[in-house]
Amino acid sequence: MKFAHKLNNFGAEIFAALNEKKLELEKTGRVIYNMSVGTPDFEPPAHIVQALREAAADPQCWKYALRDLPEMLEAVCGYYKRRFGVDLLPEQIMSCYGTQEGVGHLAMALCDPGDLVLLPDPCYPVFQAGVFLAEATPWYYPLTKETGFLPCVNEIPEDVAHRAKFMIVSLPANPVGSVARPGIYEELIAWAKKYDVLIVHDNAYSDIIFDGEKGGSFLAVPGALETGVEFFSLSKSFNVTGARISFLIGRRDVVDAVRLLRSQIDFGMFLPIQKAAIAALTGPVDSVKEQCRLYQERRDALCLGAAELGWDIPLGKGSMFVWAPLPAGKTSSMDFCMELLEKAGVLCTPGSSFGPRGEGYVRFALVLPPEKIREALLAIDESGLLRA
Ligand SMILES: Cc1ncc(COP(=O)(O)O)c(C=O)c1O
Repeated sequence: MKFAHKLNNFGAEIFAALNEKKLELEKTGRVIYNMSVGTPDFEPPAHIVQALREAAADPQCWKYALRDLPEMLEAVCGYYKRRFGVDLLPEQIMSCYGTQEGVGHLAMALCDPGDLVLLPDPCYPVFQAGVFLAEATPWYYPLTKETGFLPCVNEIPEDVAHRAKFMIVSLPANPVGSVARPGIYEELIAWAKKYDVLIVHDNAYSDIIFDGEKGGSFLAVPGALETGVEFFSLSKSFNVTGARISFLIGRRDVVDAVRLLRSQIDFGMFLPIQKAAIAALTGPVDSVKEQCRLYQERRDALCLGAAELGWDIPLGKGSMFVWAPLPAGKTSSMDFCMELLEKAGVLCTPGSSFGPRGEGYVRFALVLPPEKIREALLAIDESGLLRA
């Protein structure tokens, strides 16, 4: 059978090779320090689990949900007001099964084949996958060391800006760990208004931001609610990655368009999950703050520990990832990841899997406690890899 040609855009070869090697080593009893996938090792707060458990015990909660519960939309409004100082209306919000799903379907609702979408390079892979699924055309803007891994709208050519339908921005950024500098959202909004481009902000890491900086929302900036939308995921703040809870929030016409698309293929978020979301959004957030401190400890263990071995890894500013330049003498991120796995038992992700400008880097997910990270660094040191 001949399958849809858009599938030719997708492949898992990079990860397949690393995963095969990992399984092979595990079979021999080798300890693997797995820092490749961004799944938090922390637990969801008890009150969220309890809300889900109670709702799951009610047979009424097993029916098609068909809609977002008004209480859940109110809970999002309340959270955005308290946490970010943003006033929202329930109509400006819709749920999605994680940002991954939401951003994966977004271009289908907004684009016709061939429409231009601006994406960061390197980027979180689903940004690109969604564009391919809609048969739209990606145009990559660079996130480089020289510009602090931040988007620079004044470097986007005029003709590209005129043709672009939407631009995805995500800060704190996966994989590069950069965070919004003051004024950047204002610049994006002014540029977006000038060229009539929708800004799509993926706010996955507003609660994982270091060195006393405060995470925020793009929607808190004047003009954002008319110019853009934001994906707001509960996955990382509340360690509920498997529950698939995120919201698309902002420009009403855009939220309506995505809601219309989704209403064709979906009957609504499982009600116990909606109840869990309400508990997360209305409950205590002390554990979220404490967790941020723990992520920072892990970042320090990795970056400062690597420096002692002569591997210079800048301190990431936010997200649960560290973006590490390859050590001196190494040129291929894939080869280096394979070597690191074989010789030290440390698994991270090749930068090249996030886009061409990711080459020259590897990404570590901060999913191990500091003592394990120090053990991993010891294994790297003993492997002699950094001295080769
Ligand atoms: C930038 C970014 N957006 C979204 C997600 C996924 O969020 P969700 O679990 O809501 O699909 C991730 C997960 O790693 C991410 O790094």
